[in-house]
Amino acid sequence: MVQIMTYLIENETAALLVPSRLVSQLHPHFREVMQALALQAADEARHIEVFTRRALLKRTELGLSTAGGQTSLKTLVEEPDFAIASFLLSVLGEGTFLSLLWFLDRHAADPVTAAVCRLAAQDEARHVAFGMAHLREHISQDAGILPKLANAVRRRHDVLRNTAGLNAEVFDALLLVASGSWDPSDLRRGHENVMGLLQEMDELRQKRMVHIGFSAAEAQELSALHTRNFM
Ligand SMILES: [Fe+2]
Ligand SMILES: [Fe+2]
Repeated sequence: MVQIMTYLIENETAALLVPSRLVSQLHPHFREVMQALALQAADEARHIEVFTRRALLKRTELGLSTAGGQTSLKTLVEEPDFAIASFLLSVLGEGTFLSLLWFLDRHAADPVTAAVCRLAAQDEARHVAFGMAHLREHISQDAGILPKLANAVRRRHDVLRNTAGLNAEVFDALLLVASGSWDPSDLRRGHENVMGLLQEMDELRQKRMVHIGFSAAEAQELSALHTRNFM
């Protein structure tokens, strides 16, 4: 759980930095958007706080962070374009994280950890809803942005081509949490659960992309190219 929390903290930090940077670049006319982004940033700061507390509950040190995970988040944090950044972060990244947080709610060994993940997922659902509504509106006004969004996913995939993706410690930690024990039959079931999680993430990413205006074929291609680091 410490390793999973460490991974969540890193990803939540990227999710905090993106809206914080965007809100500083907005024209004051867009006050509702400023409010939504400021609330989003406050949510992420709270997620970082609560996940850090859980990680350090019985330890003095966090788990492992990897160069691949950091490179993936760096491509997200450095994206300058508002529409592309909210597509990568909210529709794809936070959308994928929803499945992860629901998974942790189902499989966490203690009720407090489960509740923390469930409550964070409620916040993420709002961030995803705002990103989707915003992009749907943007795309309805200017369908020419769809190829730009698609190319951003392809470009990011190329940049991350030589990284390992999700770090093995996080994968193993998810497997163990889903198994609940070291018993081989439990581990087999845990592995099936984690494979089911990856499949659910892929299906829901595709659904969200179709919802904002991509064709089913594009959604399938782009979902497969989404970073293996989830966010
Ligand atoms: Fe978050
Ligand atoms: Fe979020």
